[in-house]
Amino acid sequence: MLRKICILGGILAGNLCGETGAAAWLRYEPLSDSAVRQYRTSVPAELVIYGKSPVIESAQSELIRGVRGMLGHTLRIESGLPAESALVLGTLAQLKQEAPQLHLDAALGPNGFWLTTVHVGGGAAHTVIAGADDAGVLYGVFAYLRKIGTGDPVAPLSDQQTPYAPARWVNQWDNLDGSIERGYGGRSIFWENLHVREDLSRVSEYGRLLASLGINGCTVTSVNANPRALGADFIPQIARIADAFRPWGVRVSIAVDFGSPKSLGGLDTFDPLDARVAAWWKARADDLYEAIPDFAGFVLKADSEGRVGPSTYGRTHADAANVVARGLKPHGGLLFYRGFVYDHHMDWRNPKNDRGRAAYDNFHPLDGSFDDNVIVQIKNGPIDFQVREPASPLFGALEKTNQAIELQVTQEYFGQARYTVFLVPMWKETLDFDMHAGAAGQATPVKALAAGKVFHRPTGGFVGVVNVGLDDNWLGNHLSQANLYGFGRLAWNPDLSSRQIVEEWTRLTFGDDPKVLQTIPALQLRTWRDFENYTGPLGLQTLTDIVGNHYGVSVEASERNGWGQWHNADEKGAGMDRTVATGTGYIGQYRPPVAHVYESIETCPDDLLLFLHHVPYTHRLHSGKTVIQYIYDSHYEGADAAAGYPRAWKTLKGIVDDQRYREVLAQLEYQVGQAEVWRDAVSNWFLRSSGIADAKGRVGHHPGRIEAEAMSLDGYTVRDVTPWEAASGGKAIGCPAARCTASLRYDGPAGWHTLRVQYFDQIDGVSHFRLWVANQLVNEWAADGRLPPTRKMDGTSSSRRVISGIDLHPGDEIRIEGVPDRNEPAGIDYLEILPEARQ
Ligand code: GCU
Repeated sequence: MLRKICILGGILAGNLCGETGAAAWLRYEPLSDSAVRQYRTSVPAELVIYGKSPVIESAQSELIRGVRGMLGHTLRIESGLPAESALVLGTLAQLKQEAPQLHLDAALGPNGFWLTTVHVGGGAAHTVIAGADDAGVLYGVFAYLRKIGTGDPVAPLSDQQTPYAPARWVNQWDNLDGSIERGYGGRSIFWENLHVREDLSRVSEYGRLLASLGINGCTVTSVNANPRALGADFIPQIARIADAFRPWGVRVSIAVDFGSPKSLGGLDTFDPLDARVAAWWKARADDLYEAIPDFAGFVLKADSEGRVGPSTYGRTHADAANVVARGLKPHGGLLFYRGFVYDHHMDWRNPKNDRGRAAYDNFHPLDGSFDDNVIVQIKNGPIDFQVREPASPLFGALEKTNQAIELQVTQEYFGQARYTVFLVPMWKETLDFDMHAGAAGQATPVKALAAGKVFHRPTGGFVGVVNVGLDDNWLGNHLSQANLYGFGRLAWNPDLSSRQIVEEWTRLTFGDDPKVLQTIPALQLRTWRDFENYTGPLGLQTLTDIVGNHYGVSVEASERNGWGQWHNADEKGAGMDRTVATGTGYIGQYRPPVAHVYESIETCPDDLLLFLHHVPYTHRLHSGKTVIQYIYDSHYEGADAAAGYPRAWKTLKGIVDDQRYREVLAQLEYQVGQAEVWRDAVSNWFLRSSGIADAKGRVGHHPGRIEAEAMSLDGYTVRDVTPWEAASGGKAIGCPAARCTASLRYDGPAGWHTLRVQYFDQIDGVSHFRLWVANQLVNEWAADGRLPPTRKMDGTSSSRRVISGIDLHPGDEIRIEGVPDRNEPAGIDYLEILPEARQ
């Protein structure tokens, strides 16, 4: 995999080289001369390795690679402890036995490591990287290299770390045909055409990225599982993936379909209490472990979103989980059973119905009935990765069951890699939230519950839904890599702060130029709140098209259907009444100290108000502002903030390599346009519903905007857009002919202007546009369909072309020509003419 593309013979190599993003945070770029001088005195030149295994070999080669990259020298491998200072690598047990003169002694938890400086006679000081096990050695090496990469001192060293939780997994929602459900970084690195890929080099690279964060398990098939993955022909294919991951200490797992004993195994049932079904699951596990002795286990999504489950036979989730887990048990395998179980055909007319209740209602009564190698995998919130949700009440409700928190790294509801949204601050809020699940006065944050610390469970942990793909930069957006980095760092140590994580990531990914360190963390840290502001604030949820592509704006997509993502916004007010007193009773699923805060409108945090209560638009928040005014203000604040991203990024020109500079800039500029689409759509929707004007007079008033339908149209016809709020004025124009034009006569003052054309870029065609001012062609572009797939003119396809530096004179004709292609009608929403001083 090429990580850099350089112009051959370039003199200014630094700036001419483009980075593809493939190396992510493991670039090991040469440090500055002064840093190299400093580390040359503290990083020994010699290396001694105790032990031999594929993981230890990775640790060795990684250490050599990292030191060579950053410091420019090659560690010299010695067979025994030399007289001079050396880097010493091995498991603690091995080091104690083979290098007793180091007098090492520590209590390391599984996968833990100890970085320490040991002074021996003759002035030598060895730098020891001791692991609790082979994986611990590898994690210790990555930690050591991270210190160098982030400018931390490495002598003397004293750093002992143990991962916070035993299970630190990622899930990939990869289908066997090579597509990835909710994946935005290209096709599967594992599968192609119902087979494992021939070339698994990306899998090894992914294993290395995961190992650098301490991730120890990866599920390589989608939770919406294809039963075929359990077929005999797939075992050798999964084994090849396991081989690629093994040197990085990442164990492989697959998602299974609960109906497999019948659909694949030929039995006439998949009843979990049928002995033949139990034998079938056991036989599958035995076969897998014979081929892959370190196989990690299964993930199971049952009775959810159309997947079959135990309800077919009137059995419980515990029956289902245990029958599968018992096959894995003799081999030490784990079963992650998804807590994401709900009815998606709920009657929306019944105000007591509530999808938010589902996880607790399904699993709490079963607490204590799950086997010890079952982990209930619980999404951070009770709905589905929305922009803001309270912590799932289920975290506080399982005392005798293992649990893990599921966080979504892939940005399904967060702009799908077309937006930069740094999710770590959001995850931190949930992880640090005290569920009050233990004895009075005992802090029981979600992170501690998930890790099994509160109720002393044998296992538990963190699962990230990542969905990397074959794209060079893994996730489809350079800045989105921070989410994978952040997930892994939190799974290792959830006490790290968001700032610490993003600063580390920035240094490793973009270097330590002060401008870089000032700009990128500040930008990343604000993106979640900004995104919330211009999408669904106050707990409304994301307000995206939840029955479609989960991308563009569609305020009512969640309403009046069985999916249960309701926000109940109408002409009088908004929000789900989830109180015990008058609502669905959801709040009663929390322990009393939490329920008490949420139940009362007085104490309920504003950020969650509409998730937990139904209030009129005139209700005053704690700030004194009405709900409706907050909705308007937050949307303008969010979009304004997003408009600052490209400005901030441009300060890095010539500092960040050209390729990543350009790609990120294009992404951020697109995001700015989308933030305005969101702002206008949501604000206009609430204006129309509530009938209450924006006190600041912005909503519905857009200086300089001319609706396309109000222009002189030649060939173009006016179309209704659905949902109406996705287009300005609810309407747009489309061209039913070979070529159409929309024009107007400019009647404003003379001077420099920026023209913005809001047009629609659908997937099924590449329309062309040309724009003339006073009969002079000033710009042309194509709607090239690189957006998320939509065949409609809507919030997903809404795009904008910004044409600046146009000298307009009164009387000038501005004419836009659209040439449609296939089913894409060269649609236009509006034109904006903005004097340049206002930019
Ligand atoms: C979301 C997502 C689905 C996924 C599901 C799950 O609803 O849109 O694609 O299958 O979550 O987590 O199982």
